[in-house]
Amino acid sequence: MSKQFDVVVIGGGPGGYIAAIRAAQLGFQVACIDEWKNAAGGPAPGGTCTNVGCIPSKALLQSSEHFEHANHHFADHGITAKDVKMDVSKMIARKDTVVKQNNDGILYLLKKNKVTFFHGRGSFAGQAEGGYEIKVAGKTEESVSGKHVIIATGSNARALPGTPFDEVNVLSNDGALRLGGVPKKLALIGSGVIGLEMGSVWRRLGAEVTILEGLPTFLGAVDEQIAKEAKKAFDKQGLKIELGVKVGEIVNGKKGVTVNYTNAKGEAVVLDADKLIISIGRVPNTIGLNTEAVGLQLDERGAIVVDGDCKTNLPGVWAVGDVVRGPMLAHKAEEEGVAVAERIAGQHGHVNFNTIPWVIYTSPEIAWVGRTEQQLKADGVAYKAGSFPFLANGRARALGDTTGMVKMLADATTDEILGVHIVGPQASELIAEAVVAMEFRASAEDIARICHAHPSLSEATKEAALAVDKRTLNF
Ligand code: FAD
Ligand code: NAI
Repeated sequence: MSKQFDVVVIGGGPGGYIAAIRAAQLGFQVACIDEWKNAAGGPAPGGTCTNVGCIPSKALLQSSEHFEHANHHFADHGITAKDVKMDVSKMIARKDTVVKQNNDGILYLLKKNKVTFFHGRGSFAGQAEGGYEIKVAGKTEESVSGKHVIIATGSNARALPGTPFDEVNVLSNDGALRLGGVPKKLALIGSGVIGLEMGSVWRRLGAEVTILEGLPTFLGAVDEQIAKEAKKAFDKQGLKIELGVKVGEIVNGKKGVTVNYTNAKGEAVVLDADKLIISIGRVPNTIGLNTEAVGLQLDERGAIVVDGDCKTNLPGVWAVGDVVRGPMLAHKAEEEGVAVAERIAGQHGHVNFNTIPWVIYTSPEIAWVGRTEQQLKADGVAYKAGSFPFLANGRARALGDTTGMVKMLADATTDEILGVHIVGPQASELIAEAVVAMEFRASAEDIARICHAHPSLSEATKEAALAVDKRTLNF
């Protein structure tokens, strides 16, 4: 006899565990099934984000940034730091502790909200009366049934054909986050978000980093002016990024990895590295779900097909997060999870895809929301642009980090903000103001008229808004 629930959530990442909590808050009996194991074989909910994504990468970015500051920037403040060393195993252990705190926090939250947690793999066994039967294969085998099922099974790293991840020399995000030491030479394929964040971590710690990118443009989805500014900063740091390459044979040998590629000039190049990180995007994960048992529709990429409301082709079955279309971001997965729980309760949950922020946590940080200048041009929208450099911001000078700018794009007629693009210190935090402004359909003038604390980096956002009207006060 299976245990019966109103809502069964498969996957306990940001999409799944948040959907489960919201559904429970709305009065449903909820089960959440997640198979991720910690080193001891116990449950480790939180998905890719908590275990091998957002959280551990930010922990390592923080540690490596402290190291970089101690080595290169403390002296500017009159601080002498001699013989600064990095104990990589301690850094990794700290990261593991941060991950565990998050795993435990999620288990606590599920319990607090009376969500029943199952540790194991969930798969469709078939239709049940008024819903679906889900088999849970963990230490024991159990069966649960749900009137509604929310699938939040996430994504996996995309491998290059013929070069499987061994997580020793050829690394996905998983291996890249738990290296035992600093590789002398590190190669990365793909200069997207993971390539830049992981490349930054290991470069700061002393690796000679080369990132090979297939496309001829750097960060094509980012506003061109912002991407150019970021590239300048990365070049200065010694992060070697080669654009427009064609990767050929990769040999994973005893001493390391050899990557053969053709560079943008058409020359054949052989790159020897101690480790290779492949960061060329991620693929939706439906492995082991047994979608065939119920006829769940997938697209040609393997993503679960959903409509704008995250409904699949099956009544009562929903899917959210990385396993469906749209950006693969934790906060997007969370918003979809909340919206689906609310829709199940008959409410009108909504996700505004136009105001989902993006952040790349490099130094300088890159963050944006809304459309880029090149998108507005392509869409034939008449716009005004205003930007303000951190060089002219008092707080940035005091921090000793004046790289970059805030750039605002507004409709030429209505002045409504259409996009905000930031490269520079604390861009990840600064972007929140732009998201709020765009959600409230604010004009650039609205931001320009708001009192911002002095001295603060956020004054650069106000000044960018003033710049839209060609009346900056401090530049
Ligand atoms: P996931 O987090 O992948 O969770 C899916 C869960 O489902 C997993 O626990 C998995 O074990 C479980 N599961 C799968 N199949 C089954 C099954 N059949 N039965 C039971 N359980 C199952 N995004 C950001 O917004 N900010 C960042 O800073 C950021 N940094 C990242 C850094 C890296 C290195 C990586 C790889 C990703 C990063 N992301 C970041 C992306 C983010 O991790 C994902 O967008 C997010 O985790 C997606 O959430 P999800 O709930 O859809 O899936
Ligand atoms: P990505 O899509 O960001 O970047 C992949 C890059 O690899 C692209 O520039 C692409 O042109 C390039 N590429 C693809 N195939 C190639 C090939 N054969 N040879 C050379 N280059 C090739 O994907 P990435 O970095 O793997 O990250 C996956 C996703 O994880 C991101 O898109 C994002 O959704 C999420 N993520 C988010 C983070 C954040 O929010 N800060 C951090 C890390 C990941």
